[in-house]
Amino acid sequence: MHNVRNFVIVAHIDHGKSTLADRLLELTGTIEKRKMQEQFLDTMELERERGITIKLQPVRMQYGDYMLNLIDTPGHVDFTYEVSRSLAAVEGAILLVDATKGVQAQTLANLHLAQRQGLVIIPVINKIDLPNARVAEVEEEITNILVVEPSDILKISAKEGKGVKEVLDAVISQVPPPKNGSDFQALIFDSAFDTYKGVLAYVRVFGGSVKGGEKIQFFASKTQADVIEVGIFTPSLKKTESLSAGDIGYVATGLKDLGQVRVGDTIHYPLSNSSPLSGYQEPRPVVFASFYPENGEDYDNLRDALGKLKLTDASLVYEPESSPALGRGFRLGFLGMLHVEIISERLRREFKLSLIISTPSVEYHVTTKRGESMIVRSAALLPDPSVIETLEEPVVALELLSPVAYLGPLMTLLSEYRSAYQATDYLTKEIVILKYTVPLGEIITDFYDRLKSVSSGYASMSYEPAGYQASDLVRLDILVAGDLVEPFSRIVPRPAAYHEGKRVIEKLKEVLPRQWFVVTLQAAIGGKIIARETISALRKDVTGYLYGGDVTRKKKLLEKQKKGKKRMQASGKVEIPQTVFLEMLKK
Ligand code: GTP
Repeated sequence: MHNVRNFVIVAHIDHGKSTLADRLLELTGTIEKRKMQEQFLDTMELERERGITIKLQPVRMQYGDYMLNLIDTPGHVDFTYEVSRSLAAVEGAILLVDATKGVQAQTLANLHLAQRQGLVIIPVINKIDLPNARVAEVEEEITNILVVEPSDILKISAKEGKGVKEVLDAVISQVPPPKNGSDFQALIFDSAFDTYKGVLAYVRVFGGSVKGGEKIQFFASKTQADVIEVGIFTPSLKKTESLSAGDIGYVATGLKDLGQVRVGDTIHYPLSNSSPLSGYQEPRPVVFASFYPENGEDYDNLRDALGKLKLTDASLVYEPESSPALGRGFRLGFLGMLHVEIISERLRREFKLSLIISTPSVEYHVTTKRGESMIVRSAALLPDPSVIETLEEPVVALELLSPVAYLGPLMTLLSEYRSAYQATDYLTKEIVILKYTVPLGEIITDFYDRLKSVSSGYASMSYEPAGYQASDLVRLDILVAGDLVEPFSRIVPRPAAYHEGKRVIEKLKEVLPRQWFVVTLQAAIGGKIIARETISALRKDVTGYLYGGDVTRKKKLLEKQKKGKKRMQASGKVEIPQTVFLEMLKK
């Protein structure tokens, strides 16, 4: 036990976690150099393509006499939940900071999470090979957020492998070995599914040991199971004889229902041991969107696909929903907008599903004039304004980190977003921390992109839920050729409704394919049209293939085309392809 070390790497997005993990895998001979591909632990196609880590990934490494368990975590603000789960399973954290960018919002947010968990923090400055590395300034930034001597901060180049051995040595000398309990107890920090072995619980064992054939019980779900096998991550799954206190590995449960193996739950045995392990945060979906199959027959396929995605992504939540216009579908809950995009992409790519996706919405609290309270997660389900007493929306505590030079532009930007200023702190003389309270609905739109643009990419953000506030909000509807298109409805602040309505129909005008007839696009509030656009008709050249001269035939064809146009206009139905819904999701 004394030679086991469990740790994570936490960092702001792109500071080099996956690259450092690659070097650690090489240095410990876990992966042969010739088999190494960049960002080895990012196994999902989407992760590799975008160069971001979406899913946490554990791996065991042997280094001299030491057994090291590393969990690679995502750096994007949407996935703080994945980070919090990993932190609960380890004793130490490498805090990786990019030497050119310095401490950023997620550096700080992740550091606070790690400190709350009581982890040993090893600060490391990465990318010192770059000509614009600002090692001395970044040292100062780190000493302002963590009690540490500048000389104790490791300086490395994960890309070139420089200083990486020192990182491993620091993990061994500074991270304490895991403590030992006697009864079997393990924390589930992730899960996966295997057709033959059932749900695999990814666990950190905190006490006792477990092997194949033994009985286990899940604390929260009270389910019992017989262990099929246990094993470790190399990073692929490798069966072992047993898992003991301190180990990170998997337990194959044989269970078919993921609901019985909840991430964050404790596995234990014997049953007398009745207190669950703590230090874990439930996933909390903050953004919701409806997904309907474009083709009604695909409903079962969509349900199966969601079931499969849920096995690899415990944070995804969904429930059946139906709409008069769209038939049967599902309402999905997400951790943020990046998560919405990723799940939409995965359903399209991995499951070949064509989907109609509604405008994402946050969760509103409504009190009616009769005193009933209800939760609304879809603009389409918002009751008529005449029965609403109060409408409340979620707000977040937003923290922005930025070089002082961008303070002015940032404050101007925030003033456009219904934000309430809270405080200004200084990390160093050059780096300012701005604190605001902002409705969540405001920052899930284009806020992040604009923040990056007004600060030339230097400002970064993190946020935490901060309750609810009553606001003057209305439902904005979009009509295409006179028909209400439910998925485009959204809840917006009343003063911004006109602007938003105009923006949406202008965008629709760009992305909606032209029809054989003129299509009107309208934005409306409570039946009142507030903005309007038209898309002109396509005029197919039906006479094009005729040789000149035959005027009567030409006339006849044009007549026929006219009639065709009339028929379609009468039915007034515009088919909206799924690409349009995906396009409308993007900013
Ligand atoms: P997420 O997983 O998205 O949070 O990013 P990450 O922190 O894992 O960063 P990643 O390892 O993907 O590195 C981001 C970029 O920085 C990549 O283009 C790397 O090649 C580059 N990079 C990482 N470490 C170094 C380094 O030491 N020097 C230089 N020059 N580039 C580096």
